[in-house]
Amino acid sequence: MSQFLVDVLKGLSAPEKYLESKYFYDAAGDAIFQQIMDCPEYYPTKCELEIFSNQTQELASVFTNRFQSFDIVELGAGDATKSIYLLKELVDRETNFTYYPVDISTNVIDQLHKKLPPQLPALKLKGLNGEYFEMLEEAKQQSNNIKVVLFLGSNIGNIPLNKAEDFFRQLRSHLQPGDLVLIGFDLKKNPLVILAAYNDKAGYTRDFNLNLLKRINKDLGGDFAVENFKHYPTYDPHTGTCKSYLVSTTKQQVHIEQSTFYLEEGETIHTEISQKFSVEQTNTFALNSGFEPLHHFFDSKKWFLDAIWRCV
Ligand code: AVJ
Repeated sequence: MSQFLVDVLKGLSAPEKYLESKYFYDAAGDAIFQQIMDCPEYYPTKCELEIFSNQTQELASVFTNRFQSFDIVELGAGDATKSIYLLKELVDRETNFTYYPVDISTNVIDQLHKKLPPQLPALKLKGLNGEYFEMLEEAKQQSNNIKVVLFLGSNIGNIPLNKAEDFFRQLRSHLQPGDLVLIGFDLKKNPLVILAAYNDKAGYTRDFNLNLLKRINKDLGGDFAVENFKHYPTYDPHTGTCKSYLVSTTKQQVHIEQSTFYLEEGETIHTEISQKFSVEQTNTFALNSGFEPLHHFFDSKKWFLDAIWRCV
């Protein structure tokens, strides 16, 4: 039985149904996510792109001032649109480094191997397809250089807030004193701005959410009637937690393999958390998980933070 099937059956059997957001990213999901990133309401990518494109020199210098040679491991690399600014600057400075993009999507890694070499012929590139920490270990196997781990896009927001610190402790346990991490955090801001980013007018976020059901139908032989579900995003400004659900618009059944799942009209399947943070919260994460905050890079609106931490 595939892990995908195990996780889907577990989530749909829970009293409050859920599906894990990491399964959004099949080839169709990757393509819809690109559309989300391009839509006017989805600000996080634009803010972080502004940081990487306007503060490239400063970012690169943090690494080149400290290290002769190192490896960059990017967790959840996606299309590397942001990191490419940094990679290009480092290549231009003739820095000795290898770039290890890590992604759960085979499609993403294949695309990067096609796209990056023509743009940056001198880049040493080794894509790793798999889970974050397993692939970080793989990168350590391949070289014992200092590691710089990039975890951009506020991907950390997909982890429940009370698990974020565990995640950073785990990340720290795979690294050595002196290694650096660069973490992207989407910051708390006007709740209307945040909610709109997960409820775009063109409906890309809706399609992204519904694609998870299509993927279950396609890959696991499920029979979700996708038209019987509605996208429902929420944001709680006090906790900073943004959540997406799929709402069943009718009483219905779904079959996957030998299992039948029953949904009431109005019943929800929780599909995603996108946590928003305060700057103080991010400093506390660092200090509680074995890091020391070194630098803060903000976009001009201060909507997004790229924090660089050093392993102590
Ligand atoms: C890629 C996980 C950061 O949570 O904002 C975008 C994914 N989901 N719109 C996010 C997403 C809906 C995104 N992350």
